[in-house]
Amino acid sequence: MPEAVVITRAGQRLVVPFTPGTSLMQAITEGGVDEVLALCGGVCACATCHVHVDPAHVGRLGPVSEDEDGLLSGSQHRRDQSRLSCQIRLTAEMDGLQVTVAPEDA
Ligand code: FES
Repeated sequence: MPEAVVITRAGQRLVVPFTPGTSLMQAITEGGVDEVLALCGGVCACATCHVHVDPAHVGRLGPVSEDEDGLLSGSQHRRDQSRLSCQIRLTAEMDGLQVTVAPEDA
């Protein structure tokens, strides 16, 4: 099974397995990372699933949609490699994808 690497806010490195076709947010929450609240359930409406993608892996992902971009714009922790993990549909080719949970917005 492919896996993603998640760095928590405290710097802990966790490896979470995923089924291709699911979202990165699902893989993270089902992998036991409770820092990703995913309050809207994955419909791109809350930004509590914000992650920073490892710069070396950004090119493996699809483009940011207008809705995702709008939500990320409201985050004080937005970076070039920011993504909403619920908007990343995982494929087998994304095995090894590494992300860091973004700090919580105040
Ligand atoms: S879970 Fe709400 S925007 Fe991703």
